[in-house]
Amino acid sequence: MRQIDTIAGLRAAIATARARGERIGFVPTMGFLHEGHLRLVDEAKRAAGCVVMSLFVNPTQFGPNEDFSRYPRDVSGDAAKAEGRGVDLLFLPPVSEMYPTPPSLHVMADDLPTRWEGEVRPGHFSGVLTVVAKLFNIVAPDVAVFGRKDFQQATLIRRMVRELNFPIEMVVAPTVRENDGLALSSRNTYLDAGARANGLALVKSLRTVTAAFAKGERLGSRLGNIGRETLATYPDVRVDYFAVVDPTAMKPVDTASADSVAIVAARVGPTRLIDNMILGEAE
Ligand code: PAJ
Repeated sequence: MRQIDTIAGLRAAIATARARGERIGFVPTMGFLHEGHLRLVDEAKRAAGCVVMSLFVNPTQFGPNEDFSRYPRDVSGDAAKAEGRGVDLLFLPPVSEMYPTPPSLHVMADDLPTRWEGEVRPGHFSGVLTVVAKLFNIVAPDVAVFGRKDFQQATLIRRMVRELNFPIEMVVAPTVRENDGLALSSRNTYLDAGARANGLALVKSLRTVTAAFAKGERLGSRLGNIGRETLATYPDVRVDYFAVVDPTAMKPVDTASADSVAIVAARVGPTRLIDNMILGEAE
């Protein structure tokens, strides 16, 4: 595996791989890698001969009161994990390489960013879309792999690929969980034992709702109530939202179907967690 920290260096390495006839697979991350990230690498390897992973904690997607400066970082650990899983090119640009001047132009979507995560984190998705567009232009992959764990992010990036005509196939891989169901997240490292137990409220609420759907409940409002009632049994968990939405516009559904998605965000102490489940996809 080669570690590269300049855009020019990465482009040269990718050109060499292309000259060998290899397809390029791309997995963008902010590092502090866990099994969820590494499964995305497995997916990329299935689709491409050369797998590029970026590891860049993108300052523009963090709000002023968010955790940019204390976001967990472990570059040497990440490099070992990425190499062990078969990443070919690891791109670790410093902030000055990605943003040599303060960005004056942004990719924005008009409706979805104001809902759910976007409502709680103003500007977040514009930061995500802009950096992913930059990375797509730098890497020019054939295939890019994202996780369903960040459902709204994947939905917006899929929309960007379509509307801005990026010639990229998008793969969205299922959420990887701990044995007890907690979705893997770099931010889980913030949780102590008590907070971790409370963090299970999210998956518990999603499982209660998918079970109610499997038993025949179809009313979106009732499924939402079932989820919120489950969350309410955890007094130390502060719910930002729980909703059952359609998978493209992400608007709450009146009548749920197998492709509807239950989405949840909640705070356990200072740590904010998100999770989701497709109703028809029993785990
Ligand atoms: P990060 O949070 O590091 O996540 C990188 C990728 O890993 C995302 O596509 C995310 O959905 C996926 N992922 C995270 N946890 C997962 C899990 N438990 N199972 C499966 N996939 C999981 O998302 C970002 O970084 C950034 O916003 C980024 C897209 C890199 C832009 O800066």
